Amino acid sequence: MDKQLYMVSLGPGDSELITIKALKALQNSDAICIPTKSPDHSFKKSLTHKIVSKLMEEHDFSKPIIPVYTPMHFKKEDWQYQVDILYKGFEEHTILSFVTLGDSAVYSTVYYLLDIIKAQQPELYCRSEVIAGVTSFSQASAKVKKPLCVGDSRFEIVPLLDKEVPCTTIYMRPKIGMDTELIKEQGELYTFENMNYNGENITSYKKSRVERYMTLFIDFFK
Ligand SMILES: C[S@@+](CC[C@H](N)C(=O)[O-])C[C@H]1O[C@@H](n2cnc3c(N)ncnc32)[C@H](O)[C@@H]1O
Repeated sequence: MDKQLYMVSLGPGDSELITIKALKALQNSDAICIPTKSPDHSFKKSLTHKIVSKLMEEHDFSKPIIPVYTPMHFKKEDWQYQVDILYKGFEEHTILSFVTLGDSAVYSTVYYLLDIIKAQQPELYCRSEVIAGVTSFSQASAKVKKPLCVGDSRFEIVPLLDKEVPCTTIYMRPKIGMDTELIKEQGELYTFENMNYNGENITSYKKSRVERYMTLFIDFFK
């Protein structure tokens, strides 16, 4: 059987806020790779390990756990080390999950690892799947019953760093028939139409005209 790698978003810490798809990926895996900041590879302080243990208990399944030491130094060699642990895991297992808190799209290690895998093992990269999850800020909004944006408002995610950083912009709620000329591409612009519905269409460019209400554009940072 071909190797399969799931990058599983666990949600913001409540085991009930994991998606069914993410749960199924964990249940379908031969082993689960869990990041730990402890150099002794223990999970004493690991929030991810707590969530996965609770899920295994609540949903009555058990999988071998592979610790992935994650020192958070943001160095290429650390990510390579983590990828090497995944490669080693594949020597014994066919299906692996790597887990991350919240949603993998937001400040997660997942894409550092996938970039390396894409360059070194393109077949494994093609067979990898990223499973979306609930972000910490969606949960925060729900906790206090305050929207992040509604009507004519918008919201921003600002990393608390002492420097200018590139930006991803999401364009939503277009009018059908609208010309997209006013959307100026800064990075890499994609069009997503009818995602997960009939006629799903994802293009790695900006469509010149909006054909469906269920259209969003993402200008990914470069
Ligand atoms: C590395 S980012 C990961 C974000 C995550 N992928 C997400 O979707 O929310 C970690 C930051 O997210 C925020 N965060 C994540 N989980 C949180 C929680 N349970 N409570 C408050 N803030 C949280 C904090 O700002 C924290 O510094």
